[in-house]
Amino acid sequence: MKTLVIMGRGGTGKTSFVSLIADYFIRTEQTPLLLVDLDPDQSLGEMIGVDLQEEGIKSIAELIEETFIERGGTTIGVPPSERIEHRIWEEGMYEGEKFDFIAIGTKWVEGCYCMPDAALRDALSRLIKQYRYVIIDAPGGLEHLNRRVTAQVNDIIDVLGPSAKSFAHLERAKKIADECGIHYERFISVGGYLFPENLAERASAIPDTRYFGKIAYDEEVSRRTIVGESIFGIAPDCPGPVSVEKILTKAGYTNFPIRNDQHK
Ligand SMILES: Nc1ncnc2c1ncn2[C@@H]1O[C@H](COP(=O)(O)OP(=O)(O)OP(=O)(O)O)[C@@H](O)[C@H]1O
Ligand SMILES: [Mg+2]
Repeated sequence: MKTLVIMGRGGTGKTSFVSLIADYFIRTEQTPLLLVDLDPDQSLGEMIGVDLQEEGIKSIAELIEETFIERGGTTIGVPPSERIEHRIWEEGMYEGEKFDFIAIGTKWVEGCYCMPDAALRDALSRLIKQYRYVIIDAPGGLEHLNRRVTAQVNDIIDVLGPSAKSFAHLERAKKIADECGIHYERFISVGGYLFPENLAERASAIPDTRYFGKIAYDEEVSRRTIVGESIFGIAPDCPGPVSVEKILTKAGYTNFPIRNDQHK
């Protein structure tokens, strides 16, 4: 099981990148996948063609609130993390054929969330074990790092935008992740679709991070996201998918083909 967190400043192309990564893993039969939308804006659903509301699926924030805030924390003898894990499976999980999907959501009322956060962290760490890849779409802000809901990850990938501020974001994100004690194996940067090629060298020079190339501008990705169509199933020879495959190959996420003799 590998966990990838995709982050970066607003509008750099994080959510479409997450969708293209998922589409690549599905195309190359590297499943099961869990997609996690950590962004309060919840735009991942649209890009992968899932309307959680229509499906009657609740956000994790709603479940947390219902479980720990409205009903009080200590009514039943079941530990909090098991209670929330159970409810996520029952009410907060979209289960598709090729991928599952959960959204953290917006409805996080004020107050101390130490207990729910710890419970959620625990529940998620158990829940994600069944997947080959967990891909997390993180919001532009860095608060989610402080909350450490995702404390153990393999790769943090920061999508760089067209401005120098992106480098500051990358360095700050790394600093916060380190200070918060988030365990990760690699801190990676990639150029977003608007990232100028001539800044690649500068990106490669940032200490303790690795630059793995740039997501290509793709007319079809742009068209689909503007009209609210799913990115899934976009032709693999389009510039977007080709560039994402290149990045993933560089990062070592190559497909291991299913050998025919395995079924004999
Ligand atoms: N590879 C691409 N080629 C062309 N256009 C793209 C590409 N990726 C993203 N876009 C355009 O940029 C917009 C923003 O992309 P996306 O929503 O993925 O960014 P984001 O970083 O997730 O934004 P936010 O910070 O708001 O969550 C899309 O609606 C789309 O129009
Ligand atoms: Mg987004």
